Amino acid sequence: SFTPNEVLRVSAKNITAFCQERWSVVVNGTLPGPEIRIPEGKTTWVRVYNDMPDHNLTIHWHGIAQSTAPFSDGSPLASQWPIPPLHFFDYELAPSPGSAGSYFYHSHVGLQANTASGALIVEHPISANSTATESKGRPFDYDEDVTVMLSDWFNTTDAYMEQGLGLGPYRWIGEVQTVLVNGRGRATNSSAPVTEECGLASIDVEPGKTYRLRFIMATGLSFVSLGIEEHGFSIIEADGMYTQPYETDFLQLGSGQRYSVLLKTKSLEELESANGTTKGEFFLQTTTLARPIVTTSFAVLRYLLPGSSSTTTTNSTASICPLLPPHPPPIFLPPMTYGYLDYLLSPFSPTLNSTLLPPTPARTIYLNISLTTSPYLLWTLNNATPWFEAFPSSANSSYLQSTNSTPQNFSYPVVHETPYLVALYQGDEKYIPDKEVAASENGYDDRVGAFTLPKGEVVDIVVQSNGYGANNQGDVHPLHLHGAHFWDLGSGNGTWNKEAHDALLEEKMGGEDGWNPMKRDTTMLYRSPVRNNTFGEGTNWRRWRVRAGEPGVWLLHCHTIAHLIVGMQSVWVVGDYNDIVKVDNVTAAEGYLTYGGDAYGNA
Ligand code: C2O
Ligand code: CU
Repeated sequence: SFTPNEVLRVSAKNITAFCQERWSVVVNGTLPGPEIRIPEGKTTWVRVYNDMPDHNLTIHWHGIAQSTAPFSDGSPLASQWPIPPLHFFDYELAPSPGSAGSYFYHSHVGLQANTASGALIVEHPISANSTATESKGRPFDYDEDVTVMLSDWFNTTDAYMEQGLGLGPYRWIGEVQTVLVNGRGRATNSSAPVTEECGLASIDVEPGKTYRLRFIMATGLSFVSLGIEEHGFSIIEADGMYTQPYETDFLQLGSGQRYSVLLKTKSLEELESANGTTKGEFFLQTTTLARPIVTTSFAVLRYLLPGSSSTTTTNSTASICPLLPPHPPPIFLPPMTYGYLDYLLSPFSPTLNSTLLPPTPARTIYLNISLTTSPYLLWTLNNATPWFEAFPSSANSSYLQSTNSTPQNFSYPVVHETPYLVALYQGDEKYIPDKEVAASENGYDDRVGAFTLPKGEVVDIVVQSNGYGANNQGDVHPLHLHGAHFWDLGSGNGTWNKEAHDALLEEKMGGEDGWNPMKRDTTMLYRSPVRNNTFGEGTNWRRWRVRAGEPGVWLLHCHTIAHLIVGMQSVWVVGDYNDIVKVDNVTAAEGYLTYGGDAYGNA
């Protein structure tokens, strides 16, 4: 019968990283889960088994616009029922031509994504008769391709954190122990022996080569600055889109973002110092931004030198390095500033002009971020919460509790609503949004708790945060869109001003460097002024332009998972039933209409 191309098995168990044991949801038993490589322009089927006896699961393919496979987006209750315990679900991945780049997959249920994630690389098609570079299908040449996956490590369990978020007053999830690099990390003050579970990740390189490092920010909370001792690099990709090369010494990475950089390693001569010794190890360092505690974490860029005693024989990102974390940290990583990468206007442009900005949006949809803490924690976009919220945040339940039956939380297999997409597909009258109402009301149809867009419409989305409390405080929010990439038009401090921002865009786009906004899938809403140890002032904006592509039901949400699960998510319905039935995977979709996939049983 049907044979999937890839199989992932998700389980919960004790794992050890950063010299600490923690009960974690993991894919194929490891953190991170296995890297998956799939070709662009082709369909790959991934079978996901939920081996957890008591938790729901979905897997989202972050950044892949699942335009021809909307049932496989992995957003629980938006595109599918969660996969119940001991069931599997077949996901159809169909990355469009031209989408070769860096992505990742993660659970979209509860806080499972803290550890249940892995790299997803979309590869170029290989063409037989062309030059070496082209035959690999790349606009840039490099010798080696290395994934550097960053994830958060906490010393409490997801269950404990979720429980705290459901309390009134809430208990925050806490701060990270470290940002793991390829699942590895070590505390500066640790006295344990260096092992795989208690040591720094090593990125092994040879002198005089060009490496493509794919930084994949799979954290659920951390937002970092990153640098490598004595090495600059050149950004060539952001969120799956090639950029014109941009030289920098530092990256700023928000949860859900990916950047590829080209790093030219030093030659042997450059590694030799005047006194004849050779330095072959350089720290990669990350420092968390915008949290009450600054957390600094490390990995090692390690040169494999002729005659060195290294036992590593392959370019394995999982190899372990005997070096201990340095103290004090060797790199000064700048905090965000107005001039910093990815602020007001992105400093880089796409390499391909096929992504030129459509000039006129049909309308501008404002999403106002608001925060309620009394008695329960609730983050919202326009005070909108999706209709699967059974009991709107009231005196009696938090959003998190209301997304399921109290007292069980969303991680548990209690599902009593039909996913939007399934409802649309089935043509159930009561779930079809009234598009006229929606268009006149900021795109929002409160009957169904969703924003609706006609297929093909171009809109601007302005996300505005407003400070709260006596000091006009704010927080950072990595904003992520499913289903399509948006043109990232920039961000700023204060209240968005259309005339001023339009003028700035026009000036920049009319300039000699041919600047055009990048298409991204995750960009930051900052707070400002930015300081490391405070929450700063909170009135800021970010503006996107989006072409509603293919019919489906897509989420727009904050990628700080603890914000997402207390309400900072919105549902966007593109097209209607008539559009959706035209999606050419009807056969597969029929299976999707059954509850969360097939059982494989206990037997
Ligand atoms: Cu990576 Cu809906 O998220
Ligand atoms: Cu947020």
